[in-house]
Amino acid sequence: MPDPFRHYDGAPVIDLPADPKQSGDWTDFLSGLLFYSASISATKQTISGQRYALRVNPSSGNLHPTEFHLACPNGLYHYRVSSHMLEQRAAGDYGALRFLLTTIAWREAWKYQSRAYRYCLHDVGHAWQSLALAAQAIGCEASAVGNFDDDSVARSFRLADDEWPMLLIEIHGAPDFPAAPNSEWFGGIPNKLSTEVIRYPLIEEIHAATRKIDSVWLAKAPAPPTPLRTKVGQTFSSANVSFGEIARRRRSALDFRGGAESISSHQLLTLLDLATRPLDADFAAESYIQLYLYVHRVRDLAPGVYKYWPEETRLELVKSGDQRVMAAALSLGQDLAGNSCVTFSMIGDLERAAHLYGDRGYRYVHFEAGAIGQRLYLAAELLGFQSTGIGAFFDDSVNEYLGIALDSGRQVVYHFACGFAVPDDRIVSPC
Ligand SMILES: Cc1cc2nc3c(=O)[nH]c(=O)nc-3n(C[C@H](O)[C@H](O)[C@H](O)COP(=O)(O)O)c2cc1C
Repeated sequence: MPDPFRHYDGAPVIDLPADPKQSGDWTDFLSGLLFYSASISATKQTISGQRYALRVNPSSGNLHPTEFHLACPNGLYHYRVSSHMLEQRAAGDYGALRFLLTTIAWREAWKYQSRAYRYCLHDVGHAWQSLALAAQAIGCEASAVGNFDDDSVARSFRLADDEWPMLLIEIHGAPDFPAAPNSEWFGGIPNKLSTEVIRYPLIEEIHAATRKIDSVWLAKAPAPPTPLRTKVGQTFSSANVSFGEIARRRRSALDFRGGAESISSHQLLTLLDLATRPLDADFAAESYIQLYLYVHRVRDLAPGVYKYWPEETRLELVKSGDQRVMAAALSLGQDLAGNSCVTFSMIGDLERAAHLYGDRGYRYVHFEAGAIGQRLYLAAELLGFQSTGIGAFFDDSVNEYLGIALDSGRQVVYHFACGFAVPDDRIVSPC
């Protein structure tokens, strides 16, 4: 297993306060953003006594392929998650505050092999919303940019070879940053994550196919409606609980309690509304994801498969009857998809995304699925229940079961389950 923590060893570090105040100081500000979006938030202990860290942002297999870098008026930094510090890779004016999310595919591929590329993209989608909602909760806005040339972004952030740039996130409304007295390159030496790396040709192929965004595509890409700033972050808190508490206590359920416990149909509609509000990104003029629901335990809603139409906040019944066995079976036999109150299939319109953005569109569909997933996690937590992202499912069988032709260009890209979590006594220190 490759090291889940990247360090740029030798780069000067800036310690971030663990309990950040909203003081207007730039390090407090960055600390707040990262503490509520990317930091360690709990420790788990296995039966054999081994301890490992869990983070604010979720990740398939807790493998965390996503790294956070940032450029700002006084330098270039990498977030050192293991100690909640910034590693300063360069001093100098790098422009207004923007984050770069990168992925290290090997961190996922050693376990999930070729399928890992999808999980990396989902994880970026989760990390994006984790950061964007944390920014909104402190009064800022966050716009994502996916249409860039990978090679020039990798060069300008001087990324280690194993980190692939995926998404830029511009933060608007940050406090003033002190200017760097002079320009200097520190770099730091990226730690080696494992002694051996196994290549997965399918991952290299899909990555190469999606690396470039052609100017032809950009010229015809639809402009996102303006202003696309939705202030959705402020809705992930209530009079009783702050956004920060919600974000830090979010955990994936290992399984759900099943039985008679149910959520109300009002809770379900609130969950759906929060999860599907427009995203602020240069590739998000249209949504590529349609939600199908396997409703198991929702008061005033008969069990069945439903399709969600967000514009009308309407559920359309597709199949009636108990879906518990089927939802679990389709989700690679994972019981939690049947013990939940509701499980989702996210159907991605890959054809439409490719029509708009060429092969690059493949990334955007998965980013959107991850982003919706992150909102589902936080909305469920706010409403008093829990969730789990499900990357493992039988793709073609899902399409077939839902009646979506395999040659339609629409394909299941992510599953998700929400319900009442069974307690996880392996969590030894929630923080
Ligand atoms: C893209 C993605 C796919 C996932 N797939 C599964 C899955 O198939 N089954 C499962 O039980 N958990 C799945 N998870 C949940 C992760 O295992 C979980 O996020 C991770 O262990 C970290 O725990 P935390 O979410 O509590 O921080 C997935 C999470 C993500 C983000």
